[in-house]
Amino acid sequence: MEVTILPAKELRGQVRVPGDKSISHRAVILGALACGETEIDNFLFGGDCLSTIGIIRALGVQVVTEENRVVVRSAGMDGLLEPENILDAGNSGTTTRLMAGVLSGCPFFSVLTGDNSLRQRPMGRVIKPLTTMGARITARKGNSLAPLAIQGGKLRAIDYYSPVASAQVKSAVMLAGLLTAGVTTVIEPARSRDHTERMLEYFGARVEVDGQRVSIWGRPNLIGKSISIPGDISSAMFFIAAGITVPGAELEILNVGINPTRTGALEILKDMGADIVLQNVREVNGEPVADLKVHGSPLNGTDIGGEIIPKLIDELPVLAVVAALANGETVVRDAAELRHKESDRITAVVRLLGGLGAQVSERPDGFVVRGGRQLIGAPCDSFGDHRMAMAAAVAGLSARGATTIKDAECIDISFPYFINTLNGIIVK
Ligand code: S3P
Repeated sequence: MEVTILPAKELRGQVRVPGDKSISHRAVILGALACGETEIDNFLFGGDCLSTIGIIRALGVQVVTEENRVVVRSAGMDGLLEPENILDAGNSGTTTRLMAGVLSGCPFFSVLTGDNSLRQRPMGRVIKPLTTMGARITARKGNSLAPLAIQGGKLRAIDYYSPVASAQVKSAVMLAGLLTAGVTTVIEPARSRDHTERMLEYFGARVEVDGQRVSIWGRPNLIGKSISIPGDISSAMFFIAAGITVPGAELEILNVGINPTRTGALEILKDMGADIVLQNVREVNGEPVADLKVHGSPLNGTDIGGEIIPKLIDELPVLAVVAALANGETVVRDAAELRHKESDRITAVVRLLGGLGAQVSERPDGFVVRGGRQLIGAPCDSFGDHRMAMAAAVAGLSARGATTIKDAECIDISFPYFINTLNGIIVK
């Protein structure tokens, strides 16, 4: 599918973005580990979360999908069954790594794999702690790449010093710890998103957080719950970026999750001069939520690096587009993790912005954008990466001429109907 974006004169209106991807995965997984019924509202029916549902069903758990809702009915963590076939996580790193944690604690054999992109992404980072806990895992390329063959069983609780600030690694170990007697602890080099911790507590598990140290008490009796999932701030960010970069724009984005481990991009954009106001701040199922109001604003370049990186890692492609439309230089550093996402997002950002006429250069751990040049619409690659495709669309709104995005169907991974939602705010 090819999508063409034309320059926007005006953006106006109210937007609702789909449910949070990270929280949607965790709701289905914890629903499967809890006894009874878990009702999930505003679930994200994107490709990645559908992969998680497929795998949970293959483990013998009933998952019923309705229009905007999912119901999980499970006999609990000891009721999961050995899958009869290979488990396909599609494009989803979160599904693979979190499920590797769960499957390690289950007394049966399973094989996890995914698409071409997923099979190039580093899995040694979860295999290492899970084998230390006692799981037997073998994988391609010296136990580093999927497919992963997992013989799970009784594990031992460990203290794990993770070399990366990754919520997927932390969550894999915590979920294995949930299935294991004793207290399992993960210590991170910087704080990553904490949706697993919050949702485990919401389901009744004992979790203790002390700075960058998180402990989980194993084998609790989790009971099914009702969960309402907030809109995904990573999806909202494409509309926030559009709203601040199109002069005179006025947008309201409703029901957005503002968990402080996810709001790094809001902090950076405010620093750059963006007019973003949070309204009606509230809490839903242990997660903070707000409505956001954004206006077109003059923006200045900035420095992005250090401990804020995990809080905005998924937003860097669209922040790069904002940087290209801001005055002055923006430097992104300490973000080498970007090379291990759905695409190598450092190379992809440099190729995207360079192709649109921006001044941008690559660094091993980030990139430098010199903003303020008029972007020129051109054919763009999606790199098979949903966030790259949507970042290209935001750039296209401010470029001169038409911007065409090839292979744009990958947008459905996290934001089905993105193009319809965008069309709804473009004033013709
Ligand atoms: C996610 C964690 C992050 C993020 C990804 C979703 C999660 O990945 O980039 O989109 O749901 O736990 P890492 O754990 O690899 O940093």
